[in-house]
Amino acid sequence: MKTKQIQNLDNFTGTILIPVFETNAKSIIPIEYHGISVPSKVFYGKKDTHYVVEKYDCTHIFIGLGKEIDYKSIKTIFRRISSKQKELFNKNLVVVLPNELKNEQVEALFSGLVLGTYNLGHYKKTEVHPFLTNDFVFQYIAKENLAEIISKGIKIAQAQLETFNLVDLPPNKVTPKYLADWATETGKKYGFNVTVFGKEKATEIGLHSFLSVGQGSAREPQFIIMEYNPANAKKHIGLVGKGITFDTGGLNIKTAGMVQMKCDMAGAGAVLGAMQLIADLQLPYRVTAIVPACENSVDATSFLPSDVINSYSGHTIEIIDTDAEGRLILADGLSYLIKNYQPETVIDLATLTGSVVGTLGYECAGLFTNNDDLSKKLQNSGSQIGEKLWQLPLWDDYKGDIDSEIADVKNYSGKPVAGAISAAKFLEFFTEKHPSWAHLDIAGVAFGDSEFSKTKHATAYGVHLITKFIENL
Ligand code: BES
Ligand code: ZN
Ligand code: ZN
Repeated sequence: MKTKQIQNLDNFTGTILIPVFETNAKSIIPIEYHGISVPSKVFYGKKDTHYVVEKYDCTHIFIGLGKEIDYKSIKTIFRRISSKQKELFNKNLVVVLPNELKNEQVEALFSGLVLGTYNLGHYKKTEVHPFLTNDFVFQYIAKENLAEIISKGIKIAQAQLETFNLVDLPPNKVTPKYLADWATETGKKYGFNVTVFGKEKATEIGLHSFLSVGQGSAREPQFIIMEYNPANAKKHIGLVGKGITFDTGGLNIKTAGMVQMKCDMAGAGAVLGAMQLIADLQLPYRVTAIVPACENSVDATSFLPSDVINSYSGHTIEIIDTDAEGRLILADGLSYLIKNYQPETVIDLATLTGSVVGTLGYECAGLFTNNDDLSKKLQNSGSQIGEKLWQLPLWDDYKGDIDSEIADVKNYSGKPVAGAISAAKFLEFFTEKHPSWAHLDIAGVAFGDSEFSKTKHATAYGVHLITKFIENL
């Protein structure tokens, strides 16, 4: 995908997208562009409306933005046009950018157009979206040269599309090995180092808790380590993403919602997408990311409820419920990251609990941290780009929920209350009192319904949030 600034519409034929801020329903001044006059009676820029005029071999689409528009809404409007009216883009395209459009809004607009190329029908014969054909050029008319901003918008969407694929593809395709190979190839392409530990190496170094979860699966667990370390690095950030490629619940087998559990690697998907984007944007920060990837399966070799297992940290864990597996692989991911890399800030992302969905629904992720500054920075970054977070408590009053009589900790309280909080307390136990750690429970926001398909699908929540957070440091 390329970009090209053009000065005017002389000799242009094709589709012209004209975003318009809202004027007034009763305005007597029509919206004028390219010799077309749109009376305010039929169109005055109201949000989520559009108006089409065919003239001079051009399809003019006036797109209403409302009086003010946030990042996410602008992205959705342009994703909608790109996704639902592909046929308009089989010819030349030019976007006419109004002067009032801020740089981030231009970024969101182009991100939306590129996201609109996504098609959930991975295993169906479908036509390729025109933007994905070779050498597609996004032409634009603007007062200034916006090539860099537009190209950033495209890069953000390209990383999010990768995460869409990783999360939406089925678990017989996206295995732990698939995630490891994706990381290796993407690292080569964008410039970060990738090391993968298979079962043998993981056993040798003592990733016991991680290995316990994967031991009932025919698919080998993969512990993926990614290191992006540019010469001009300012700070060191550590990331961990839950990479359960399918969660059956294990022997505590799920009785509801199992069919959606291919999404249980969405934390990994977010971390992998964010690594691509951070490297693609060449952000001047050192980032070390860990993705413990395995499948939680049912087998004679599966771990058992009441097993006591060891962990990389040396702490022992009593297994109360094999369905509380995410925290077990994250425990080793966090310990390994903190012990071997000492990042200044550590953030983990995980589809960790049904409880967070019960608490916050599908609109925002649960945020857990003891660091107020980190909390504010994450929430601010999220609200800039429309990925919301809401902080939930981590008080020690909840610590009793994970006290075990036989081992150092247990993986589940056994009580149907405050599940997202006790899960976070469990993770906290393995962060060795790191002063700047945050846990994002993304179970409600990573995979959901939208206008873009009939079944639940990936949202790529976290890819842009993490990148934006690092950019804002
Ligand atoms: N993967 C699930 C959490 C989940 C729920 C993700 C809904 C996406 C959507 C997790 O491993 C799990 O099973 N959690 C249990 C824990 C319980 C057994 C302690 C839960 O929250 O019900
Ligand atoms: Zn589970
Ligand atoms: Zn899970």
